[in-house]
Amino acid sequence: MDVEQRYRLAKQIATKVGKKISDLHFDQIEIEFKDKHLEDPVTNLDKLAQKLIVESIKEKFDSDHIYAEENQAHNIDLKSTKLWVIDPIDGTANFMHGSPFWGVSIAFAHNGQVVFGLVFCPELDFLYEAFNGKGAYLNGNLITVSKIALLEHSLITSGITHNLKKETEKKEKKLKMFLKLFEKAQRLRILGSSVLQICEVAAGHSEAFVGTGLKAWDFAAANKILEEAGGKTSTMNNQPVILGHQDMICSNGLIHDQLLELVDR
Ligand code: IPD
Ligand code: CA
Ligand code: CA
Repeated sequence: MDVEQRYRLAKQIATKVGKKISDLHFDQIEIEFKDKHLEDPVTNLDKLAQKLIVESIKEKFDSDHIYAEENQAHNIDLKSTKLWVIDPIDGTANFMHGSPFWGVSIAFAHNGQVVFGLVFCPELDFLYEAFNGKGAYLNGNLITVSKIALLEHSLITSGITHNLKKETEKKEKKLKMFLKLFEKAQRLRILGSSVLQICEVAAGHSEAFVGTGLKAWDFAAANKILEEAGGKTSTMNNQPVILGHQDMICSNGLIHDQLLELVDR
């Protein structure tokens, strides 16, 4: 299996598709609601981005499996030997509102282990990338996590999924956790793109991201980038994150234990 060839292709597609979608943005955006839920919008451009990415992969690697958000078939084995994990636009709500904080995310995994990850934010012209064992890069420059070791000095970001609105007990527990993070950290932000929020930790712009209710495409590429930048990811119980997990802490490593004490298990 030629993983390097796949990596080169992924880099090419992430940047090409990201730029194309960014160019089409204001002229051609059409908003739909998934299953008619007003909180769950998707645009024609999310679908177009995914179509372009999948077509390019299939053209060269027809037998590889693809686990991508805007798909009907989500019953794919996350431990496949050749698995692409794709979020064509992470941060769709930001994208729809004209915020630049959204990105194209592409990861490739072998037997459940991510081998490389790429995240491209076209509006900021930020390309994050990491290949197993070779470090993490932002626009070609090596990046590392920050050296801040106290939660009280940390900028933390989080995600709060809209699905939580429909829950009662779970919602209360999660909101309490956010309140604790808000009280303890220097600042708490919710920026609307888990992949970019994790990449921010990798680049040392933030100390941690605490995510809940995520899907593999919301973190596969970014967690690889964070790991290669010297950061740490774990479940709320301090177990290694696998592609099927939903709740996690992604940190610079130094404040990880302080977060584990605060989060809801
Ligand atoms: C969402 C974003 C958001 C996170 C949600 C995700 P989407 O992805 O990453 O930050 O909190 O859980 O679903 O829908 O914009 O691709
Ligand atoms: Ca997403
Ligand atoms: Ca998406």
